[in-house]
Amino acid sequence: MSNAQSEEMIAWIDGAIVPARQARVPVLDHGFLFGDGVFEGIRVTTAGIFRFDDHMRRLEIAARTIGLEVDGGMERVRSIVRETTLAWGRREGYLRLILSRGVGALGLDPASCGTANVICIAAGMVRLPPEKAERGIDLITSSLRRPAGDVLDPRVKSLNYLNNILAKREANLRGADDALMLNAQGQVAEASAANVFVLTGNCLDTPACSDGALEGLTRRTVLEIGSDLGFETQERSLGRFDLFSADSVFYSGSRAGLVPIASLDGSPIDQSARPRLEEIQALFQKRLIELSVSID
Ligand SMILES: Cc1ncc(COP(=O)(O)O)c(C=O)c1O
Repeated sequence: MSNAQSEEMIAWIDGAIVPARQARVPVLDHGFLFGDGVFEGIRVTTAGIFRFDDHMRRLEIAARTIGLEVDGGMERVRSIVRETTLAWGRREGYLRLILSRGVGALGLDPASCGTANVICIAAGMVRLPPEKAERGIDLITSSLRRPAGDVLDPRVKSLNYLNNILAKREANLRGADDALMLNAQGQVAEASAANVFVLTGNCLDTPACSDGALEGLTRRTVLEIGSDLGFETQERSLGRFDLFSADSVFYSGSRAGLVPIASLDGSPIDQSARPRLEEIQALFQKRLIELSVSID
């Protein structure tokens, strides 16, 4: 990240808004020591906060799943998000909302932690270069599998992203843009930080969350758009074969948007359904505004 980008970010921390580069977390915070916490990545649009209630709900469930409670509850978290967005003041951006277990002992026992720490960072959107957005990105299949739900449930957006980071590193080392991740059974789960969709004829399919995908809110929006456009949408098990036999493949995320996939493991992915993907992308731009909640 360039200095210019990090300089302009701000963060809500300990009740104050500061330049993100000056925000500090205590070394004994278990979020820092162990990745003990949960987070959200939220898009800010010209109309407000995209799917605000859905983000708060997903965060609340994730926090409950790991037994993390915040002083003041989710109402306080909501008002921190509002305050940060207002202080950010720009009409487009990306929020990183973090709930960490808080300061505790050096050992991992969460019972040693005091109050949970809330942090909200506001940043600009990072966009793909236009030629990349047009051509699509190159994926490799990671050798690392997404963990099963009884190991570390991928539906919990936890601060434990080492599995995803190592997959992304593998993609970097192999000269690709990102990694496709399979589950232990070899079915497609998701990409390192995005959900995968395949367009085949009139079918728009995405891996079921039980196959190791986060229930992405961009994913939810794409499924709604798919139904509105007359696609047969399905959440089901997909293999690498389904990506090679599709008419187009793309991935979705709050930060990434909707991005076409050009190749997987060095073999081209068909692009013949691009016009249909463009219809979905166009409607997605409208939904970004329609589903945003004003914070004024
Ligand atoms: C592992 C993973 N999958 C999928 C997504 C996409 O989710 P969303 O559309 O809610 O941003 C993300 C987003 O960060 C992610 O980290």
